[in-house]
Amino acid sequence: MQTEKQQNETVLTGIKPTGDQHLGNYLGAIRPGLDLVAQFRHSLLFIADFHALTTVQNAAQLREYTLQIAATWLACGLDPARTIIYRQSDVPEIFELAWILSCVTPKGFMNRAHAYKAKVQENQSEGREDIDDGVSMGLYNYPVLMAADILLFNTDVVPVGEDQVQHVEIARDIAQKFNRAFGGEILRLPRALVKTEKVIPGLDGRKMSKSYGNQIPLFMESKALRKLVMKIKTDSTPPEAPKNPKDSLLFDLYKEFASAADTEALAARYAAGIGWGEVKELLFQAVEKHFSEATAHYRELMAKPAELDRILSEGAARARELALPLMNKIRKAVRG
Ligand code: ADP
Ligand code: TRP
Repeated sequence: MQTEKQQNETVLTGIKPTGDQHLGNYLGAIRPGLDLVAQFRHSLLFIADFHALTTVQNAAQLREYTLQIAATWLACGLDPARTIIYRQSDVPEIFELAWILSCVTPKGFMNRAHAYKAKVQENQSEGREDIDDGVSMGLYNYPVLMAADILLFNTDVVPVGEDQVQHVEIARDIAQKFNRAFGGEILRLPRALVKTEKVIPGLDGRKMSKSYGNQIPLFMESKALRKLVMKIKTDSTPPEAPKNPKDSLLFDLYKEFASAADTEALAARYAAGIGWGEVKELLFQAVEKHFSEATAHYRELMAKPAELDRILSEGAARARELALPLMNKIRKAVRG
């Protein structure tokens, strides 16, 4: 249900373009994200390409990943007329604000950020002399840039996973430092909306993740998708043995893509005994059907990068226009 308040609030989220999206990203981030933005009158979604620069240092690759993320969200149903979609690096005001914010941010905030701390711990446990080994200023300042992403748009709500909550808290703290330093309530304090974590398993039963290489990518060719689904780990229970859908990786995935009636029907077949090969075939068909329209749309978009560029540029122009009054206020507050 949409509340009065939400109608007038601004929701904003960023996605780091670091590689192909998979079914876990779709079920854990894209689908719930689309449902959420639909509840707000003002919504912004951007591709955090310059955040990705801390790891992706190849222009062609960064561009490809960026277009893939844009095409994925659009193909899955994001309406650019309702939600402003843009590329972070097309909005220079974000980087201007990041510098200003860095001047009111105590260094200690960054020392406490999870990603940086994890890197330091890794260096210590590996016995490296330099605890900052492999830490670029980009990695260190990452939370300041994220604060600028959020604060520039008077954002109220930032939907994030558990791992990003600290970053939103840092953005709040930085906003308060800024407001205190420059007199008054200039920057709005955002709040994190934590997604309920539903973990989608991958081919081997562990969490589906690029880092495990166990993912099923979105928008695959039919043959390749079938081949991958056939690789999902199963045990050696014979086909005729009754099976419990409650501890079945295949069933867990199937129910995400099939209708309630089909899910029930499969549960009944589990009880009666069904071969894993047949379940995989059903799963393959359900996934393929679920994404058939989106896959066609995705291919169409990826075949026309100029059209994607146009959508992103238009979004950036709208985002900049939206940010301008606040940016002017900030400039006036800091330099008169
Ligand atoms: P990966 O682990 O493949 O690198 P990311 O960390 O880039 O994925 O995740 C991007 C978004 O997708 C996050 O919001 C995360 O919660 C969601 N996500 C990724 N994998 C899964 C999964 N297996 N189940 C549920 N959500 C997931
Ligand atoms: N750091 C986020 C991630 O890794 C991506 C991101 C960048 C973001 N800027 C943001 C998310 C602003 C929400 C709001 O997933």
